[in-house]
Amino acid sequence: MRESTLAMKPTGSNVIRVRAAAGDYSVVCGRGLLRNAAREISRLGRFSSTHIMSSKRVWRAVGEGLRRGIPVPVAQVHLFDDAEASKSLKTVEEIARKLVRAGADRKSLLIAVGGGVVGDVVGFAAASYLRGVALVQVPTTLVAQVDSAIGGKTGVNLPEGKNLVGAFYPPRLVLVDSEVLASLPGREFRGGLAEVIKYGVIADPRLFAFLEQNMKAILGRDSRALEHVIRRSIEIKARVVSRDEKESGLREILNFGHTFAHALETVTRYRKYQHGEAVAWGMMCAALLGHETAKTPADDVARVIALVRQIGPLPGWPAVSARRLFDAMRADKKAKFGRVRFVLSPRLGTAKSYDKVPEATAIRVLRFGPQFLMGPMDSLGEKHG
Ligand SMILES: NC(=O)c1ccc[n+]([C@@H]2O[C@H](COP(=O)([O-])OP(=O)(O)OC[C@H]3O[C@@H](n4cnc5c(N)ncnc54)[C@H](O)[C@@H]3O)[C@@H](O)[C@H]2O)c1
Ligand SMILES: [Zn+2]
Repeated sequence: MRESTLAMKPTGSNVIRVRAAAGDYSVVCGRGLLRNAAREISRLGRFSSTHIMSSKRVWRAVGEGLRRGIPVPVAQVHLFDDAEASKSLKTVEEIARKLVRAGADRKSLLIAVGGGVVGDVVGFAAASYLRGVALVQVPTTLVAQVDSAIGGKTGVNLPEGKNLVGAFYPPRLVLVDSEVLASLPGREFRGGLAEVIKYGVIADPRLFAFLEQNMKAILGRDSRALEHVIRRSIEIKARVVSRDEKESGLREILNFGHTFAHALETVTRYRKYQHGEAVAWGMMCAALLGHETAKTPADDVARVIALVRQIGPLPGWPAVSARRLFDAMRADKKAKFGRVRFVLSPRLGTAKSYDKVPEATAIRVLRFGPQFLMGPMDSLGEKHG
């Protein structure tokens, strides 16, 4: 068991450094930053060729702006489908073959422009093409900006399961421009906010309080409030992965709410929830479990639930038994030796992983928790339409 000792002041800086064994890198944040993308990228040195990898949808939304930031005669643009179903080895092969045909060599640069799907696939392609070429991440969803583009995890799905093939491969640079979020669909945006709340719970009571006070502005995509929470979330993720790049301990706290979330996603075959929506449910369940195991003070439990509800309506709880959900947790690849591990928050701003939560207690939360959480949730749903 480890407690996060991440007490740290926000730096307010627009450049956040991430440590990685293969080389440290910067995450640069700023509104409108992409208009100067070429300048940021040129600091990395010279490349023999530059290849922008994105999807049609993302490129339609943000390509025009980027084209000015990275002149297209300089870079070639390759588009591929970014549905979750395309996060596959087949897509990696297609990308690699396109790169060969375009003459990419070891000194080429790949720029991944998109959400987590684009980032994970292109990241893995960069890790494996000619055994590794330089990679710049330009995340365009809230999830990608605060989570998937930082930390070097790349990979693809197999028909047997998600993210089963991959590599730790740090990018050389991450460019985070909150302007690109303007075109993000509401559901994607709100799902990303669940991960932002997670950072408040596990590492930063001040971020948590800021979210409590400013959620309305954030939901309205107020740029100042949004930029603040994005930068703070990145600082936290950067701090965690810098200390535990390969997920041997501390990084586990990033899974707050995720043991429950993965079970919800599995039993509904990834069709009912956007990931962040499952995480939202999962964080409320983790708060209740913290209460049931006398780890989380009642006041904190109430605050977590209230803040998650502010994100807006969630798809309902699935019509499956608590036992089935629990079995899905036990089958999760993060369960070790059949023991389910739960990240709980002993105090807002801290998190610990526990592997001795009694099965009966977890099942009680799965059985009665949703009823407890559902009633008011429905009325919230009505309010938001
Ligand atoms: N590597 C990691 O550490 C890590 C962490 C979290 C999630 N992930 C992975 O990330 C993926 C989910 O990523 P996601 O939540 O970013 O979703 P996504 O990549 O599936 O994108 C969601 C949708 O939004 C569209 N989109 C992206 N940016 C847009 C923009 N600016 N404007 C309009 N539309 C836009 C995409 O085309 C897509 O249809 C999953 O595959 C998950 O496994 C990886
Ligand atoms: Zn997540």
